Amino acid sequence: MADLSINFAGIQSPNPFWLASGPLTNTGYQVMKAFDEGWGGAVWKTVGDPIINVGSRLGSLDYGGRRMMGLNNIELISDRPIEDNLREIAEVKRKYPHHAVIVSMMFEAKPAVWAEMVKRVEDTGADAIELNFGCPHGMSERGMGSVVGQVPEYTEAMTRYAVDVASIPVIVKLTPNVTDIRVPGRAAVAGGAQALSLINTINSVIGVDLDTWRPIPDVDGRGSHGGYCGPAVKPIALHMLSSLYNDQTVGLPLCGIGGIETWRDAVEFMLLGAGALQVCTAAMHYGFRMVRDLTEGLNDYLDERHIARVEDLIGQAAPKVGDWNDLRLSTSFQMVARIHSESCIGCNLCHIACDDGAHQCIGRIPGQIAPVVREEDCVGCNLCSLVCPVPGCIEMVPVEKGPVETWRQHEARLQQQQA
Ligand SMILES: Cc1cc2nc3c(=O)[nH]c(=O)nc-3n(C[C@H](O)[C@H](O)[C@H](O)COP(=O)(O)O)c2cc1C
Repeated sequence: MADLSINFAGIQSPNPFWLASGPLTNTGYQVMKAFDEGWGGAVWKTVGDPIINVGSRLGSLDYGGRRMMGLNNIELISDRPIEDNLREIAEVKRKYPHHAVIVSMMFEAKPAVWAEMVKRVEDTGADAIELNFGCPHGMSERGMGSVVGQVPEYTEAMTRYAVDVASIPVIVKLTPNVTDIRVPGRAAVAGGAQALSLINTINSVIGVDLDTWRPIPDVDGRGSHGGYCGPAVKPIALHMLSSLYNDQTVGLPLCGIGGIETWRDAVEFMLLGAGALQVCTAAMHYGFRMVRDLTEGLNDYLDERHIARVEDLIGQAAPKVGDWNDLRLSTSFQMVARIHSESCIGCNLCHIACDDGAHQCIGRIPGQIAPVVREEDCVGCNLCSLVCPVPGCIEMVPVEKGPVETWRQHEARLQQQQA
């Protein structure tokens, strides 16, 4: 059995799977139930000054028969009294000393308030603090959440308020509602953060009811922009994670969040730099027991590859994600589509997709079921293999065409020729 335990910025956890701050981590009852099911850690629902919520709060993007591909919410931070949260956090940590208990916090930009609250959180025995600089709705209109994460100077200063008084690790949770995630990431580093987590939710309007013309979610006829999450946001999270991991000036442990639903997602996040993982939407959808599939699948994956420790995955694929300018040009290296005629069902989707949406290199031969690819015209875009409903029927095959040349090298060569 592979070792799934992690040490993330000094936080010990029996496995890398933590529940993200949200409705799943609102009470001690839930967190203890989750730990009993096998979750390695939990980030408590953001604690802050008491707020009042609205209903309804959630809207779903259903796609092709799949429920909750994306989830939108206008829920605010914890609406429970701070005393109740702190008492239950202490109880959880006492009963589960080997699990990771992290407390998410959000307060106004007042150093004295942070000093007092960090101290009270530490007194619970919690393992770490996560600063919520990410929620894009509601709290941002009150000068907290993503408005802090969107202004590097605020991120740095607010991080400093917590770091200056904390004796446990401070994780800064970043908002994806920025142009370049490295900017707030570097600001958090400058503020003294010990780790970063990402992503919080993406600003969004999920839809409109076609009968009532009311926005979704509907609060007595009105709606508001909310935070988007779930499987649909995974590619955005992976991009931001890898760009932070590859940034030489960041260099902090990264906790990956955003659309994690299967052990495969978990492996991808770890390969692109995550040292721990947080899950929200998928566990809201399927319940705490989903963690059994996550741990079993991850364990099998590691065992099959004779990888002894899950931490050996961290960042292994990240250096392969870089600038477009460093990719080999098509004059040097090409992919071409090959259709395996024996498995083709003659649906014609590849032909139509290529003819209308790509490069007109898949033709039909009268009396023959399988279309044929004119390889000399194929640009290797992948579209035919993506629309093909038969797994493995269209294979993308690499073709070496000449010496390695990237755009960067190409440009340098042209400049040399002109000089
Ligand atoms: C209903 C709901 C409430 C949330 N509340 C919080 C919160 O209080 N604090 C926080 O940092 N993130 C909050 N989040 C964001 C999640 O922690 C997480 O960053 C986001 O949902 C992306 O992960 P996912 O794709 O696994 O859901 C909330 C998400 C949802 C869906």
